[in-house]
Amino acid sequence: MVKVTVCGAAGGIGQPLSLLLKLNPQVSELALFDIVNAKGVAADLSHICTPAVVNGYQPANKEDKTAIVDALKGSDLVVIPAGVPRKPGMTRADLFNINASIIRDLVANIGRTAPNAAILIISNPVNATVPIAAEVLKKLGVFNPRKLFGVTTLDSVRAETFLGELIDVAPTSLKGKISVIGGHSGDTIVPLINVNSDIASKVNKLSKSQYEKFINRVQFGGDEVVKAKNGAGSATLSMAYAGYRFAEGVLDSLAGKPTSTTTVPDSSYIYLPGVPGGKELASKSLKNVDFFSVPVVLENGQIKSFINPFESLKVTDDEKKLVETALGGLESSIKQGSSFVQGSK
Ligand code: APR
Repeated sequence: MVKVTVCGAAGGIGQPLSLLLKLNPQVSELALFDIVNAKGVAADLSHICTPAVVNGYQPANKEDKTAIVDALKGSDLVVIPAGVPRKPGMTRADLFNINASIIRDLVANIGRTAPNAAILIISNPVNATVPIAAEVLKKLGVFNPRKLFGVTTLDSVRAETFLGELIDVAPTSLKGKISVIGGHSGDTIVPLINVNSDIASKVNKLSKSQYEKFINRVQFGGDEVVKAKNGAGSATLSMAYAGYRFAEGVLDSLAGKPTSTTTVPDSSYIYLPGVPGGKELASKSLKNVDFFSVPVVLENGQIKSFINPFESLKVTDDEKKLVETALGGLESSIKQGSSFVQGSK
């Protein structure tokens, strides 16, 4: 029996993500929360003939605090794509003030109502919204760093697709052969190509400019979507797919299925000092930046361990330079997130 709650379920990401979750046979209850249209989306999805019972929760008015509590009660996994999307000319950082308050308030409700749930944060800027969530949970005394995840899977999905095109192999064969570490915005995103794998010879044939274009496209791939949508928002369908891919890993781990050991698992943006070996990684290789995306091994809905990229993935000098650049951006986003909560009542 697994209950999953989606906060922001009626949005561009929330709807397709909820559809994918409805198709997962391990989900017994799917609670859809949104400030608008949650009941409509729930009614629609509830007609699909899969086991999950779907319920929609939306506040009757601004003062109504019961809908969110009912949506969260007994939840094992909460996925959050609530917020406003990026419009042309807006950076992910521009979203900060609006989405920061939304995340702060939703996570406070999770901390009070479903303190044992795993929390997957999609709302941008992830580099800062995850530290906000951590700070809120700490204040409430219920922070479990093994259960707080910033979803960065879209960067891996893009890396697999774009590298597949470049070296002419099926992108589906690249899962686990590229790890994306760091953060989830621009040059904080660091793709690492696993040269221990069978793609090494093809990757080694890439010119420097091809490699640099590939890195740039993974880092700024979101802009292609923002531009093509021309005012209608940012990535939704690919983000829903990516969010689901990570959520499915969490659901598998709740069902006792081990994270695949044949490939490097997907990364997630986590609070490193909260997991064994994380503090050492942060101090030795990351200038004490303590939120960072690394490949995570899951067990029973939480992080069992992570893979230290500097020990396992043969990080090249070029890749080390990318990490160096990423650390600057991450440090300021983390500070921005933590101060936002510390400055709140
Ligand atoms: N609680 C619950 N839902 C909320 C709240 C809130 N406090 N505030 C906004 N929402 C809902 C909106 O009603 C909407 O249905 O969140 C949904 C967001 O959907 P869209 O506006 O379509 O945005 P989307 O493209 O899905 O992106 C959402 O994810 O990737 C990030 O950058 C993106 O931060 C943005 C978020």
